Amino acid sequence: MTNSANSMWGGRFEGGVDAIMEAINASIGFDKRLYAQDIAGSRAHAAMLAAQGIITPEDHKAIDAGLEQVKAEIEAGTFTFSTALEDIHMNIEARLKELIGEPAGRLHTARSRNDQVAVDFRLWVRDQCDAAIAGIDALMRAFLAQAEAGADWVMPGFTHLQTAQPVTWGHHMMAYVEMLSRDRSRFVDARARMNECPLGAAALAGTSFPIDRHMTAAALGFDRPTANSLDSTADRDFALEFLGAASICAMHLSRFAEELVIWSSAQFRFVRLSDAFTTGSSIMPQKRNPDAAELLRAKLGRILGATVALFTVMKGLALTYSKDMQEDKEQVFDAADNLMLGLAAMTGMVRDMTANREALAKAAASGFSTATDLADWLVRTLNLPFREAHHVTGFLVALAEKKGCDLPELTLAEMQTGHPGITQDVYSVLGVDNSVRSRVSYGGTAPDQVRAQIARWKERMA
Ligand code: ARG
Repeated sequence: MTNSANSMWGGRFEGGVDAIMEAINASIGFDKRLYAQDIAGSRAHAAMLAAQGIITPEDHKAIDAGLEQVKAEIEAGTFTFSTALEDIHMNIEARLKELIGEPAGRLHTARSRNDQVAVDFRLWVRDQCDAAIAGIDALMRAFLAQAEAGADWVMPGFTHLQTAQPVTWGHHMMAYVEMLSRDRSRFVDARARMNECPLGAAALAGTSFPIDRHMTAAALGFDRPTANSLDSTADRDFALEFLGAASICAMHLSRFAEELVIWSSAQFRFVRLSDAFTTGSSIMPQKRNPDAAELLRAKLGRILGATVALFTVMKGLALTYSKDMQEDKEQVFDAADNLMLGLAAMTGMVRDMTANREALAKAAASGFSTATDLADWLVRTLNLPFREAHHVTGFLVALAEKKGCDLPELTLAEMQTGHPGITQDVYSVLGVDNSVRSRVSYGGTAPDQVRAQIARWKERMA
């Protein structure tokens, strides 16, 4: 089955395309999301054409008013999208022709869908960078508030998910502020790099019309026009960079998501997630499932999947535009939607969660978490080489383990079986509060250090 020849490019075609061809070729099902960017790009282009005397002021007026009406129709839901018209660019132009007639055909002067889609998509991805930055800011503030509330609450710090050393809740929260700030800066950098306007590159080689690319670039909020027309139509780095930044950010979200899953379990009870961000079980009434956290742990799968997909599409493509590149949009749309949703959900969870200070403190004190403090005391007070102090401490940990107690519960006599020089003073470093308070090195877990970092970030984010 074939349809009649396409009204946009069918001049040299006798027959129409096969229905299957239409189905595989069309992008309107998803690129309709670019309608606002497409209309903004067209309006900037038309204004420039008129300013340069390439179209008449009357035609420009008709085109501009027509485009505004098309936009209103799309936003009102009265616009009929047609698969036969392939994509958002041709759907809009065809409707413009219905509305204003002949001048509509002049809009595409000195332009191609290749630079048109490049500018539309850049504008869309640029907006998503801004949305990601705003979402990250909100999440950073939520972590900062948690850090401030519990700057000196002790909890176990882990390596290998084994109790390592006591740390502070505030310190752990601030670790995510650092990660997120790097995520934020990646979006800021990507945005700055992508902020060049490809419009006017035309099909690939530029145009013989006396266009003003600086004018359209400025009108669309770009810093400057792109400098090479071939690169302009072939480039999708901006989308790849967005996906790369989104992947790293989603990876960070997945790590806190995993911690929330562990921490909210009945075995840990470090945090209680709010009712707003948990679900019950239809069969087990005791359950509070951290579903949002689990989904956030999973989201990186699809965001990284989109990244790999687009890299694979772009790999080995000869310059300039190839239709392969139409496969860019769904991946980026899906990744962006899920990143924004993930950031919002994580912000809600972090804002609403309550740390169980007692459970944190209790866990901090178990698992021989102050063994390093004991070794450090032996170095500082008895001048033992660290390796020997490590050995003595290991012996005492084994002794405590045998007795089924923690390090501070060993008697002084028992301590002295490890080293005769140990005195009563050793107990001062075996408490978790003293332990964290002693870690005053820059960036360390001591509450004063944590408070200094909180203050620095609050000032930076004010
Ligand atoms: N729908 C196309 C895309 O998304 C627009 C560009 C089409 N250009 C072309 N020469 N067929 O990539």
